[in-house]
Amino acid sequence: MRVDILTLFPEMFESPLGHSILKRARDNGLVDIVLTNIRDFAKDTFRKVDDKPYGGGPGMVMMPGPLFDCFEHVQNLSPEKGRTILMTPQGQKFDQKKALELGAEKRLILIAGRYEGLDERIRIGLGAEQISIGDYVLSGGELAAMVIIDAIVRLLPDALGDEDSAKDDSFSAGLLEYPQYTRPEVFRNMKVPDILLSGDHAKIAEWRRQQALERTKKWRPDLLNENDKNEKDKG
Ligand code: ADE
Repeated sequence: MRVDILTLFPEMFESPLGHSILKRARDNGLVDIVLTNIRDFAKDTFRKVDDKPYGGGPGMVMMPGPLFDCFEHVQNLSPEKGRTILMTPQGQKFDQKKALELGAEKRLILIAGRYEGLDERIRIGLGAEQISIGDYVLSGGELAAMVIIDAIVRLLPDALGDEDSAKDDSFSAGLLEYPQYTRPEVFRNMKVPDILLSGDHAKIAEWRRQQALERTKKWRPDLLNENDKNEKDKG
């Protein structure tokens, strides 16, 4: 899979893309992540990419010219057209289902905007899908793009050491994850549940499912309603 990122701050991506699972996935060729600086497509000697809003008001707005030129350049870097996504708090909310869906694409082109906003002609002209990572406003789309990439890449086959790890993640079955324990058996008077030491794999699996269900009911009942709704939609 190839992911292109259009940003004014490519350096922001260095650390998250250079460690752990993302680094390994890149090193192993599971994902090719290509950063392009929108500012390289500015037309004047000051490398200007933003300007004051027409009609007045605070802040600066990203100009359409450099972004369009950057996008057209990036799109031609590979024959695969790709699915173009604009990071914006106005977008559709990102979730695990969306991560799976996007992970099946051959190519994604993520656009991380900055400043108070983007000239509306960028949204209209590029015909890009809009995605938000939550109902809050970030200073730019970079962190949102990183969140999306991380969530997608760890789901790619072979991205995680143990094939089963992603399958048991919170949300993969529409439930939160069951509780996990490792050594020591007793820590500060808190003991690992006996069932996990029993060696009875069927009982352990059932206990984990129950725990996942209980935790979801207690902490995220909205997820259960969401699952019920999906079941009903399926008929
Ligand atoms: N850019 C600024 N805030 C954002 C958000 N919540 N999601 C995606 N992109 C953003």
